[in-house]
Amino acid sequence: MSISDISTSIGNINLSNPFILASGILDENGYTMKRILSEGASAAVTKSIGMEERNGYKPPIVAIDDPIFINAVGLPNPGILNVGEEIKTARESGKPVIGSIFGKDENEFIELAGKMEEYGVSAVELNLSCPHVKGFGSEIGGDPNLVRKIVKGVKGAISKPVWSKLSPNVTNLLDIANAASDSDALVLINTVRGMKIDIYSKKPVLSNKVGGLSGSSIKPVGIRSVYEVKSNMDIPVIGVGGIESGFDAVEYIMAGATAVQIGTAVWKYGRAVFSKVTNELLEFMGSEGYGKIEEFRGIALK
Ligand SMILES: Cc1cc2nc3c(=O)[nH]c(=O)nc-3n(C[C@H](O)[C@H](O)[C@H](O)COP(=O)(O)O)c2cc1C
Repeated sequence: MSISDISTSIGNINLSNPFILASGILDENGYTMKRILSEGASAAVTKSIGMEERNGYKPPIVAIDDPIFINAVGLPNPGILNVGEEIKTARESGKPVIGSIFGKDENEFIELAGKMEEYGVSAVELNLSCPHVKGFGSEIGGDPNLVRKIVKGVKGAISKPVWSKLSPNVTNLLDIANAASDSDALVLINTVRGMKIDIYSKKPVLSNKVGGLSGSSIKPVGIRSVYEVKSNMDIPVIGVGGIESGFDAVEYIMAGATAVQIGTAVWKYGRAVFSKVTNELLEFMGSEGYGKIEEFRGIALK
């Protein structure tokens, strides 16, 4: 039997398989990104980069009780002026490198996106789940007017594709997705706000108290988010949240995702997870008689 074709494309970005390294995991350094790309990821998203260098929060920054995985790292990053070399190294892989950025307002996002374009990224991913100056717990991605302004501003300032990564921590996801509809693609979802308390010290485990839940426990939220957006909008969606196997990726693709990203599973299982998920996707397609991903993309929406 002939082997299935698992290539896909998001606009003009061609991917050899649908599996992309998600922002925040082993992607602050050009060499680790290059290594992951050589071991099967079809593209890599950098750690979210801001205007200035940031150390992030004090430990504890993760609370793990498998499958519960909560992090509050606090967006540590070297600052935009210090990532050019890392991106150059990662690009030696010959595969697409996506620059993730976060800012406090439209102007910062525009400046960061311009720098990322200069560094030669294939697309810019806007991390809209970053804190909002409005106060504790609120995220930029929860304000449709701000989202619209940032997306329009960045789209007008650079010629590379713009992906908007949305937060699930909102009352109406479709309102935000519509506000971001000038994007070339939407990335769904970032982490879900969560918390863990140590019952003996009687305190929250994380130094920041609240963190972002990721991994298999959020997969149903990610699938629902992709399904909801693809049922209502005609825009490419990249699914992310709890993907640990090729079969998990099939669920996202059936909900309409063009590609998927993997974060926590790389932390949990190491780089080898990319060849594992690829083999599982091929196994599924072989057993179900699919030659191409398009044959089942969005099939659950019908
Ligand atoms: C330790 C850690 C750091 C993260 N840092 C970022 C980040 O800098 N920017 C971002 O957009 N998402 C970040 N994320 C979110 C992931 O990219 C992803 O959206 C989320 O974890 C859900 O996918 P997963 O279940 O495969 O991890 C981070 C996640 C983890 C676990």
